[in-house]
Amino acid sequence: MNTDLHISFIGAGNMSRSLIGGLINDHYPAANISATDPDAEQRQQLATALGVNTYADNIDACAKADIVVLAVKPQIMATVCQQLAPALHKTKPLLISIAAGIQIQSLEKWLGSSQAIVRTMPNTPSLVGSGAAALFASKTVSDDQRQQAESILRAVGLTLWLEDEQQMDAVTALSGSGPAYFFLIMELMQTIGEKMGLSPEVSRLLTLQTGFGATKMALESELDCAELRRRVTSPGGTTEQAIDKLLDGNIDKLMNEALNTARERAIELTKLLGKS
Ligand SMILES: NC(=O)c1ccc[n+]([C@@H]2O[C@H](COP(=O)([O-])OP(=O)(O)OC[C@H]3O[C@@H](n4cnc5c(N)ncnc54)[C@H](OP(=O)(O)O)[C@@H]3O)[C@@H](O)[C@H]2O)c1
Repeated sequence: MNTDLHISFIGAGNMSRSLIGGLINDHYPAANISATDPDAEQRQQLATALGVNTYADNIDACAKADIVVLAVKPQIMATVCQQLAPALHKTKPLLISIAAGIQIQSLEKWLGSSQAIVRTMPNTPSLVGSGAAALFASKTVSDDQRQQAESILRAVGLTLWLEDEQQMDAVTALSGSGPAYFFLIMELMQTIGEKMGLSPEVSRLLTLQTGFGATKMALESELDCAELRRRVTSPGGTTEQAIDKLLDGNIDKLMNEALNTARERAIELTKLLGKS
């Protein structure tokens, strides 16, 4: 990525900090990164920790920006965009929105003009550099700008492009909410391990390393998850007993219902947020 480009983050919360941290780890010059936060203490802390330029005023932060990352909470995105609209209309930077549930057409409505916009849905493991983000670009985004957006998100994990913005609701249900599904399964396994007589520490570490190991194996293997599962399920063995129990309890139906409910909620929230 061209490291001469100036990137401004509007809203310097958890997600922005992880993206800025990832960029700096990738040797992006901190001098070319700006971030805004209404809180003076937060700005001071950010400048000290990451060495980036900080601003209280969103418009000031965008004056020199080639790329503006919109990273405030979805509920205040309309206000922030309307405030920035005249400035962005003049400079026309690439806009990257990481806000959950905010459609490109809503951003265009609030900005009042056609802009190059990339909408992306990252997830919380971005905070530890292992995120998964899906991206969707508006028609006005150039190939160079697509690469720029991808480079920023790739600094904290995997990036994948979507063909259709509506797929973002499925992404929200799958990888956006997904970390919580894995946390729940690990929480249950750990508790059950303890009830079986393991110490909390032993049960916790065995659970977490097993989750990590299974994921690493699946990522590195040419085999799909179904085949990997078959290979560790010997006929008549212990794993088979457990898996049969889960399938008899309709875990597949339950997961299907869970993810579809999450997707429906994402659609509802997107409609609500777009009404602002
Ligand atoms: N965290 C995730 O896992 C995740 C995943 C996917 C998408 N996202 C999206 O990422 C965005 C940011 O999430 P986050 O978790 O980083 O939230 P966050 O930690 O609350 O960050 C938002 C930041 O915006 C600041 N802010 C508030 N009003 C502002 C204004 N008018 N102008 C500029 N900055 C302002 C807040 O400052 P104060 O705290 O001082 O108010 C805060 O530092 C959200 O839209 C969310 O939907 C997050």
